[in-house]
Amino acid sequence: MRILGIETSCDETGAALVENGSKIISNVIASSINIHATTGGIIPESAARKQVEYILPVINEALFNGLNYRPNTNPPDIDAIAVTYGPGLIGSLLVGVEVAKTLSFLWKKPLIPVNHLIAHIFANYLENSESINLPAISLIVSGGHTELVLLDKNKTLKRIGGTRDDAAGEAFDKTARLLTLPYPGGPSIASKASTYREAHSEVIDADLKMFPRPMIDSPDFDFSFSGLKTSVLNKVKSMKNVNDNVGMLSAEIQEAIVDCLVDKSIKALDYYHINTFLLGGGVAANEHLVARFKKTLAKKRIDFFVPLPKFCTDNAAAIAACAYHFQNVVSWKNVIADPELDVV
Ligand code: KG4
Ligand code: ZN
Repeated sequence: MRILGIETSCDETGAALVENGSKIISNVIASSINIHATTGGIIPESAARKQVEYILPVINEALFNGLNYRPNTNPPDIDAIAVTYGPGLIGSLLVGVEVAKTLSFLWKKPLIPVNHLIAHIFANYLENSESINLPAISLIVSGGHTELVLLDKNKTLKRIGGTRDDAAGEAFDKTARLLTLPYPGGPSIASKASTYREAHSEVIDADLKMFPRPMIDSPDFDFSFSGLKTSVLNKVKSMKNVNDNVGMLSAEIQEAIVDCLVDKSIKALDYYHINTFLLGGGVAANEHLVARFKKTLAKKRIDFFVPLPKFCTDNAAAIAACAYHFQNVVSWKNVIADPELDVV
C-alpha cells in the first residue's frame, strides 16, 4: 500500500511517499526555520504564509521524485492520502488539511487524518527491518509536547503521563534564548554541550548537577520543565561571564532534561513490566539523550527504538507510516484541523 503523507503542523512543509508504512519512496521537506531563527521563535502568521507558498511545489516534488508523476488530469499511482490534522498551529495545519481534502476529492483517493504526536511514535517503523514487539512504552518529546504513552499489543494507546507545564523541546528552546543561542534551541544547546564535553573529557554525566530535576522522584509519570527556565535565568543573572560559560551551561541544561526523561521512562517500563521502548519527536534527535537511553536500556535488556534524526523532527514520511499502522480512513468532509488535539 502506497500512501502520500502531508505534514504542515508548524514550520515544516513535508510530503512523502511511503510503501507499507516503512519503505520510503520519496521524502521532501521545505522549512521556514531560517525566518524564525531571526525572530528567536515561530511567528504563526509567517509560518502559515510559508506553508501556502511551499505546499504545492513540495507535493509535486515528492510525486515526481517517487513516481515520475507530473501534474495532469490523471491521479498518481497512490492508494491513499494521509495528513496531519493536529496538534499544531491552526494556520499551518489548515494549509495541509485543505490541500489534502481537495486532492482526495479530485483524485478519489481515501483520506486518512493523522495525529501528529502519534506519528512521532510510528516514525520508528520507517526504514526499520527489525520487528517491534508490543506492548511498548513510548516517550514523545517535541517542541510543544512531552507525553509518556503505553502502546498495547492491539495498538491501542493509553496516556500514562506527561509534562505539567513546558515541554522538553520548549525547555531547550527557552533556555537557549537565555544563553542568546539561535532558535531552535535544542540543536544549539546540543552542539554547545557536545563541544564542551569533548574539551572536558574529565566531566562525567554525574558531575552535571547545577540545575534541579523537578518531579524526578514523584510517584507518577509526569514531568515539569518550567522551573528549569527560572533556574537558568537566575544563574545567568548572577554570572558575570555568561558568554565564556555557554558550553558548560548548555551541558548542564541538557543533562537536567535528559535525566528527567530517562528516569521517568525507566520508571514506567518497570511499573508496567514492558520490554520495548519507542522514542520519538524532535528532541529524540538529541545524540546525548539517545546515548543515555541506549546505555540504560541495554543494561535492562529492553529493546530500544529511535527513528533516524531526520525522522525524529517533523516530516511527512512519519505521517504516512502512522496512517498505515494506526489510523483509519475518514470522509474528506469530516476531516477538520484541530490545533489542540491530544495524544489520546
Ligand atoms: O517534533 P518537532 O520537530 O516539532 C514539534 O512537533 O514541536 O520538535 C521540535 C523540537 C524543538 O523544541 C527543538 O528545539 C527540538 O525539537 N530539537 C532538539 C534537537 N533537535 C530538535 N532538542 C534537543 N536536541 C536536538 N538535537
Ligand atoms: Zn513534531
